[in-house]
Amino acid sequence: MVELAPSILSADFAHLADQVQAAGDGGGTVVHVDVMDGHFVPNLTLGPPIVRSLRKVTKLPLDCHLMIENPDEFIPAFAAAGADWVSVHQEACRHLNRTLHLIKSHDCLAGVVINPATPVDALAEVLDIVDYVLVMSVNPGFGAQEFIPGSVHKIRRLVEIRAARRLNYRIEVDGGIALDTVTDVVRAGAEILVAGNAVFGHGDPKSNAQRLLKTATEATLLRV
Ligand code: DX5
Ligand code: ZN
Repeated sequence: MVELAPSILSADFAHLADQVQAAGDGGGTVVHVDVMDGHFVPNLTLGPPIVRSLRKVTKLPLDCHLMIENPDEFIPAFAAAGADWVSVHQEACRHLNRTLHLIKSHDCLAGVVINPATPVDALAEVLDIVDYVLVMSVNPGFGAQEFIPGSVHKIRRLVEIRAARRLNYRIEVDGGIALDTVTDVVRAGAEILVAGNAVFGHGDPKSNAQRLLKTATEATLLRV
């Protein structure tokens, strides 16, 4: 099974509730919230107050992707605001094990994220702790970037490791996911598909989400 996680980064922030509703009507089952601090990534977005507002207008899980330095300082505030899932970058965490346990101690699902230049092997010692692994298929910081095909083999590798070590993390992919790239990542084993521009960038978010999810679901039949 695959799930679509529309990323609000490309939504119209003045109409966020309507946009989230439309993406959910189109089959989105997770709301992906991109948090950027202008240090870890060269862009600024949003913080716990927006998460608190979103919490009031949707029952879907809020998947907070923290692209920030010192995430330990902010995890309690995101949890208190209503985050259900919290992911942190391997590259941003000096004590990754501690940070993942901190997320879990706030009753959130804990995810770890790797940038395009970070190998899957860098996660070997935390794969038994995390609920999900997020593979970046663009360099984080902006929506509507071009998909980096080298991320596909990382998804495949995470599927292999999960089977070999009998683990049960889920595999999420983020960046450049659209009708022309979704088939490859789903075939490789991606289970949660983040999409910003493809859902909110143009046209109607509901039908955009429907089309993307349909293509993704068809691709599950092609998994090897
Ligand atoms: C990038 C963010 C993504 C972004 C994806 O730094 O983490 O979640 O919104 O946007 P698209 O789908 O437009 O590549
Ligand atoms: Zn993201």
